[in-house]
Amino acid sequence: SAPSMGRLRERDARLRAQVLAGRREAVERQHGLGKRTARERLDLLLDEGSFLEIEMYRRHRSHGLKMGENRPHTDGVVAGSGTIFGRRVFVYAQDFTVFGGSLGEAHAAKIHKVMDLALENGAPLIGLNDSGGARIQEGVMSLDGYGGIFHRNVRASGVIPQISVILGPCAGGAAYSPALTDFTFMVRGSAQMYLTGPDVVEAVSGRRVTHAELGGADVHGELTGVATFVHDDEETCLEEVRYLVSLLPANNLEPAPAAAPRGAAGDERPRLAEIVPVEPNKPYDMRLVVEELVDDGEFIELHENWAPNVICALARLDGEVVGVVANQPMVLAGVLDADAAQKAARFVRFCDAFGIPLVTLVDVPGFLPGIEQEHAGVIRHGAKLLYAYCEATVPRVQVILRKAYGGAYIVMDSRSIGCDLSLAWPTNEIAVMGAEGAVNVLFRRELAAAADPEGLRAELVAEYSEQLMHPYYAAERGLVDDVIDPVRTRAAVARGLEMLRRKRASTPQRKHGNTPL
Ligand code: COA
Repeated sequence: SAPSMGRLRERDARLRAQVLAGRREAVERQHGLGKRTARERLDLLLDEGSFLEIEMYRRHRSHGLKMGENRPHTDGVVAGSGTIFGRRVFVYAQDFTVFGGSLGEAHAAKIHKVMDLALENGAPLIGLNDSGGARIQEGVMSLDGYGGIFHRNVRASGVIPQISVILGPCAGGAAYSPALTDFTFMVRGSAQMYLTGPDVVEAVSGRRVTHAELGGADVHGELTGVATFVHDDEETCLEEVRYLVSLLPANNLEPAPAAAPRGAAGDERPRLAEIVPVEPNKPYDMRLVVEELVDDGEFIELHENWAPNVICALARLDGEVVGVVANQPMVLAGVLDADAAQKAARFVRFCDAFGIPLVTLVDVPGFLPGIEQEHAGVIRHGAKLLYAYCEATVPRVQVILRKAYGGAYIVMDSRSIGCDLSLAWPTNEIAVMGAEGAVNVLFRRELAAAADPEGLRAELVAEYSEQLMHPYYAAERGLVDDVIDPVRTRAAVARGLEMLRRKRASTPQRKHGNTPL
């Protein structure tokens, strides 16, 4: 009938308005900046045809400041659900072409809705951020909207994986949602995160600074650790988000998606013996060791350029997802420092929250000595890593490659703080300190008085090394389970993880611990 034809036409018109929300010039400007629109991004992120949109007609109801005349559908954010490699995820994508992607009451309500659905359905949440921040015209309701997002981020923390992707500005309060989520991706050139922008910084401090200098992707990828992953363009970035999701469990009650086992328990990797030099102080690239250990040599490294003296990576080993924490002897000789401890601590806690077993590769000369480190609070930050390991109940396998000294030995998932299986290479040295240092401390007076101090020193160093600088001292005392042939490391770790697959351990009832923050 005629009235229903009218309704159909109205529906079509509204749908067009909603899909084309964002004036044409705004879309052209977005494309001119090398940025895509919200819907184009969702097309790249999700499996083809899988997107189901919610609340597409929602729009704001504010009046003043000419708002009543401008009420586009979507309100600047596209929200809903789709699949990635067939697995469900919930998403929202801010649309800079509508009100600069700024967040008002309706915009926030849509994000709240999709976050609630993600939590109730136990599926990962992915937010694509591109926004001028709190919508100025909507006043405190915009701030209330942010608070609702933060509150939900925290409720969902440790229950569903949460991923933030920064594809444009993300300023002021907006920056706190990514900071609360598990992973933050940024794109070089277009993404910026800061609490107060360059104009405010100049007004307050008199210093002129560009957006990129203040909070560009590399600043957060190298200096602050705010960005977990940095990419050159949106396509690569969204492709990597898909890869990351393929390694994550849907929620804390489900296992991470496994691939077919590879028969790793029978593997030999002769290259391992070549990669790692026998001399304890010679640098090498630990990433090459990780490549030998994991399936297809493939892994995704978190914070590649922040605190690179420790490596944190997700990968598969014999088909099962594992979290790898490893010292990197190529950077600062692989010492731990304040940043490395924070980086590894957050990763260990993520893996523990989501039931991902931990493989810790140890080759560590100790904590970085220095006034800067002590004054930066390395005690407080180091304690985060210690706390994270002590608390972790997932399967934990430690491999000590060359050396493990002092406090750093304890922190790197030693038996004493709860690793389930400790494996050591025959060449390694586990001790309070290196032989030279130990002899100098223990025999200072004898050496000073000796007729031939160098001869005596050599004798004492040899004695100390023979007694203490080998894995059997630790193995005899139950701190190392097995001394393995390096080429059989992948096999030994795979067998260990297989043994621990059904591990269940619980922590005492309490509201929550008091992690050093
Ligand atoms: N509230 C309302 N509208 C906003 C907005 C906000 N917070 N941020 C951007 N917009 C609007 C702009 O008014 C503009 O609208 P128009 O197309 O109708 O003119 C549109 O979004 C695009 O913004 P524009 O400033 O032209 O884009 P840009 O790329 O030059 O600059 C920013 C981007 C984010 C740097 C800039 O918009 C900005 O500084 N915004 C305010 C940031 C802020 O202080 N937010 C509050 C803190 S929580």
